[in-house]
Amino acid sequence: MNPNKALWEKGDFTRIASSMRTSGEALVGKVGITKGLKVLDLGCGDGTTALPAARLGADVLGVDIASNLVAAGNARAKEAGLENLRFQEGDATDLTDLEDSSFDLVLTVFGAMFAPRPFDVAKEMVRVTKPGGRIVMGNWIPGDPTLVAQILKISSAYSPPPSEGFVSPMLWGKEENVVERFAAAGIPADRVTCERDTFVFIAPVSPSEYLTWFRDYYGPTMNAYAAAESSGREADLHGELDALFNAQNQSGNKTSTQIPATYLRVTVKR
Ligand SMILES: C[S@@+](CC[C@H](N)C(=O)[O-])C[C@H]1O[C@@H](n2cnc3c(N)ncnc32)[C@H](O)[C@@H]1O
Repeated sequence: MNPNKALWEKGDFTRIASSMRTSGEALVGKVGITKGLKVLDLGCGDGTTALPAARLGADVLGVDIASNLVAAGNARAKEAGLENLRFQEGDATDLTDLEDSSFDLVLTVFGAMFAPRPFDVAKEMVRVTKPGGRIVMGNWIPGDPTLVAQILKISSAYSPPPSEGFVSPMLWGKEENVVERFAAAGIPADRVTCERDTFVFIAPVSPSEYLTWFRDYYGPTMNAYAAAESSGREADLHGELDALFNAQNQSGNKTSTQIPATYLRVTVKR
């Protein structure tokens, strides 16, 4: 099985996504969604951004590599009665099912950054965007001191070295890599804008309990725990992550979690 697909079908990302709804909706409110706009949400998960975009009247297709998340997205769309929203399986590195120039907006929030072969991903996103349309990416930033970059950094210290040729997804959080990848897809640098923004993770449980959601349901963290367990270092990993989650909590109490995380918002004009 494709290891990228296996990683995201592991666990249940819907559990983490439930803590991302408020910021997902806020981000969608900033990207100029209008009625009838044709939107592709790539690496959409169960629809954190696809649902609010459809609620604003856009005609939304969510594409994700994980079949369990596609099923969860379609169930959420049905429950919400949104006929202008559907989800299907697909791989950001090769969107063969999608025609050239078919979307006004390609939105990918912490989604396409996790696909391998980033130059192919940039090319595919550009190919399916209409001339005059836009691509908006949300990407975590390497070395950033906030939650997700730190989870991935700590986890990698407990994981085996990546296989040869592996390109870190975090490079999508560096402006020079973003510009280089879109340039190779035919987009000049002056059509690429990068700005920092904040995404807040909100959960009605303590930070320590919130960490167990990642341990039990978030593929990359599940893999780190499995690797740490096999080297007898699971308690160390858990201790580091527990300290991180508690230090970053800004809810003002110990029974709920509110953790802001910085990301790079990339806007590309096709
Ligand atoms: C961190 S989750 C974000 C999900 C969603 N955008 C959200 O904000 O809730 C990353 C998503 O990217 C998807 N993904 C990873 N690699 C992919 C690929 N090659 N093609 C399409 N989706 C991919 C995963 O299955 C997962 O749903």
